[in-house]
Amino acid sequence: MQSIKLAIVAGARPNFMKIAPIIHAIQNSSKDIVFKLIHTGQHYDKLLSDNFFEDLNIPEPDYNLNVGSGSHAEQTAEILVGFERIMLDDAPDLVIVVGDVNSTMACTLAAKKLNIKVAHVEAGIRSFDLTMPEEINRMVTDSIADYYFTTTEIANVNLRNSGAKEQQIFLVGNTMIDTLVNNLNKLKKPVIDNKILDSQYVVLTLHRPSNVDAYDKLAQSIRRICSKLQDYTIVFPVHPRTANHLKDFTLPSNLITTPPMRYLEFIYLLRKSVLVVTDSGGIQEETSYLEIPCITLRKNTERPETITMGTNILADIEDDSFDEAINQFNTGQLKSKSSIPYWDGRTGERIVSTISNIFN
Ligand code: UD1
Repeated sequence: MQSIKLAIVAGARPNFMKIAPIIHAIQNSSKDIVFKLIHTGQHYDKLLSDNFFEDLNIPEPDYNLNVGSGSHAEQTAEILVGFERIMLDDAPDLVIVVGDVNSTMACTLAAKKLNIKVAHVEAGIRSFDLTMPEEINRMVTDSIADYYFTTTEIANVNLRNSGAKEQQIFLVGNTMIDTLVNNLNKLKKPVIDNKILDSQYVVLTLHRPSNVDAYDKLAQSIRRICSKLQDYTIVFPVHPRTANHLKDFTLPSNLITTPPMRYLEFIYLLRKSVLVVTDSGGIQEETSYLEIPCITLRKNTERPETITMGTNILADIEDDSFDEAINQFNTGQLKSKSSIPYWDGRTGERIVSTISNIFN
């Protein structure tokens, strides 16, 4: 019998946390599975890419498309062309894509046009908000992928509602949580004043285009957050997208900004914080697992289980819902207990054993 040949795709920071446990599960498996790793180069900075490969012990990619930044069309087009070339040269039995970034959608499209099977990890989650580029990426990817690895039953329902067949859907859990579980005993202290790390501090992250691309909204949001949480130091690792828009901003006195952190440092920071304010998708999941209250500055979430079963609530920075969320935090009403089925650190193994069953 021949080995099962996989092509695993990663392009941007949150993808790296999702592929690591799949790769390690393949490496630790007795099944005859080989893989090639393709980095699209959507994220290329050391801070957003290489450091994550190092921290998470991900092997060097076999191919790097080096697509870099650009408009959505430019980035998607370059990935389509580059990934098609690799697939024509080195066709696998299955392409594995993760998450919802431009690389996820572009590689799915290129592979499917060549009749190569695609499995989507983190399939089926939906914000139903088509102003988010990620929602379009999720919908396109799920409309043509062959196998769906899902994080919750809610995602299964979304997939069924859009016509997926039961035998294509596998509820396996969350690979991002595998990475968290596997690294909890390896965390590293970030380079921040010890006094802050020993105090009750809040972590802030913002990078969604809808929150950061307009300077006035971004500046007002940061001022509002800092004034409502004036008794706390707020630690804000700044994503390059946000940094581009913050050049002329005078920082409030209780705000400390840092460059993007390494994975092991960022989780250290999260774990010791009393509250997280964010617009990230993955951080809603990580704070739920770590049982830290999280206020997500969005009108919707594709991860509703973090609200119903985790520690997350949604708030709009431009209306009273933010004040209400802060009140709940101040009066200890935000949830700090969580339990989400299958988020147990074994998702990578379940994915590898499912792939082995499908191809044998
Ligand atoms: C992308 C993903 C988003 C994910 C986020 C995590 C899409 C549509 N968006 O958004 O889902 O949550 O990554 O970070 O795929 N830049 C750098 N260095 C880099 C990469 C980017 O400085 O290594 C700069 C770019 O020049 C650009 C900005 O960051 O100004 C945005 O980068 P881009 O990859 O286009 O989108 P993200 O906002 O990072």
